[in-house]
Amino acid sequence: MIRRQTFAAGLAVVMLGASLGGCAAPSQLMQSERQWLVGRTYVVTGASSGFGRGVALKLASHGSNVILAARRTETLKEVAAEVRAAGGTPLVVTTDVSRPADIDRLAKAAVERFGRIDVWINNAGVGAIGRFEDVPLRDYDRVIDVNLKGVVYGSHTAMRLFRQQGYGTIVNISSVEGEVPLAYQAIYSASKHAVNGLGAALNQELRLNNQQNVKVVTVMPWAADTPFFQHVANYSGGTPRMILLDDPQTVVDTIVWASIHPTKEVAVGWKAQGAVAAHRLFPDLTEHIAGDVYHGVQIETAPPASPTSGTLHEPMRAGTTVDGGVRERMRREDQQRREQFGS
Ligand SMILES: NC(=O)c1ccc[n+]([C@@H]2O[C@H](COP(=O)([O-])OP(=O)(O)OC[C@H]3O[C@@H](n4cnc5c(N)ncnc54)[C@H](OP(=O)(O)O)[C@@H]3O)[C@@H](O)[C@H]2O)c1
Repeated sequence: MIRRQTFAAGLAVVMLGASLGGCAAPSQLMQSERQWLVGRTYVVTGASSGFGRGVALKLASHGSNVILAARRTETLKEVAAEVRAAGGTPLVVTTDVSRPADIDRLAKAAVERFGRIDVWINNAGVGAIGRFEDVPLRDYDRVIDVNLKGVVYGSHTAMRLFRQQGYGTIVNISSVEGEVPLAYQAIYSASKHAVNGLGAALNQELRLNNQQNVKVVTVMPWAADTPFFQHVANYSGGTPRMILLDDPQTVVDTIVWASIHPTKEVAVGWKAQGAVAAHRLFPDLTEHIAGDVYHGVQIETAPPASPTSGTLHEPMRAGTTVDGGVRERMRREDQQRREQFGS
């Protein structure tokens, strides 16, 4: 059973934190912001599904050039057609972000086609859930290769180009887990903590070297309903679940907004803002509550699921949309459980 008191206490702490945190990014852009996007050149990694696909389509609707990078070429071609139809100019570059040569090729293709890159979004990411010792080491290697090394390679290439250009913005997609570590997602939390650390250190280097026109933003979404939950490596024994999932469009809107108004760290929405603020005030309590809630949701009540390495080593056909349909699946699972157990 999910511990209801823990859940209520968690919500209270998050809401207290949220009231101390900042405001949410607006979903609608102002006229000046829309104008800023016209003709800008964005690299978006992980553009074949979830946030990346949503960001590509939003940018397209404002007339931006969008370089679409991920492993699934056919899906990227579909996204490119949608980008074109929405008013943007796409370029598909099949990329595995864990390979420096792919990142180099991605940057060269973008500059060759558009002459410059204004914003580089390191969004591609994978996850692994389960008790730490149940997840194979080769899966851990892969999470680090994609979530950390992929962001390092992307940032390194973008930073060199931006120094030459004299301007540019890197947007790294971390997670609320970059601040609040979560049980059963140890390596994912570790990889996202590293992304937060990277961004903070790079911002200091930029300050010390008077590079005011180069920015690094770290975006921390709360859990959101994307195909991530279908793509994740899962050794927890249960179907991947999470409470209070955000709509992915909230995250998409915030990523685009943060690329126009680059600040060092952006927690997405009141839950992430609340969790980050709560963790800074009460780290032990916040981690304890997050662990209890996730243990209840993922370990105690999730319907059974077989072990899988998800899309870590090979991409899968499934899961190409922005919305992952996880909220709907969880509703069905909860309904079945109620019918079966009457609770
Ligand atoms: N959804 C959430 O709850 C949540 C919350 C916080 C943070 N995030 C972060 O948000 C980012 C996007 O995730 P999402 O939720 O949109 O999930 P998603 O739908 O699974 O998207 C992940 C994207 O990364 C790409 N990718 C995976 N491995 C890659 C590799 N080796 N090289 C290049 N691309 C690769 C995937 O495309 P291919 O398979 O075609 O390569 C896909 O386009 C990730 O960094 C994730 O950690 C997600």
